[in-house]
Amino acid sequence: MEANTHNKGIFGSESIEARDQIVELLTKAYWMEMETVMSYLAASVNLDGVRAQEIKESLDEDIQEELGHAQRFAARIKELYGVVPGSGGFSSEQSFLQPPDEQTDVVHVIRGVIKAETGAIEHYTRIVEETDQVDPVTQDMVIDILHDEQGHRRLFEGFLREYELEGLA
Ligand SMILES: [Fe+2]
Ligand SMILES: [Fe+2]
Repeated sequence: MEANTHNKGIFGSESIEARDQIVELLTKAYWMEMETVMSYLAASVNLDGVRAQEIKESLDEDIQEELGHAQRFAARIKELYGVVPGSGGFSSEQSFLQPPDEQTDVVHVIRGVIKAETGAIEHYTRIVEETDQVDPVTQDMVIDILHDEQGHRRLFEGFLREYELEGLA
């Protein structure tokens, strides 16, 4: 029998349902990060041209950061008694971040990154809401990651703005 301590929070037996729900949300977040790693890695190598260099370097840095996010989501899944899925559970969703027809098409990649970051921001905002008063540790972690994604999106919005001002987007 489980000792009847008053407040085990999200780890309590009465919180199994809430915990499962959070693990599900974290698993989706984990996959989003893993797919982002794949997409950013490909784009950071594929892009061609003088104008692409800045974008490539920025994406190259982001790869490690997004991988770090995936690791944090994985660790939290484990802490909440979940199991981090194997690659068999993966299905891609970033149709908008597939390599463009022309590898000089920087704008395609910039828009794709903004869309990926926006998707992450929406999902993580939902996790922050759903963990409110329920699992403050997950909430705290996700707020931190959400902050990173907001920074990424802001950076790429700036890149897009520059292309728009020059009539290239
Ligand atoms: Fe991320
Ligand atoms: Fe990001």
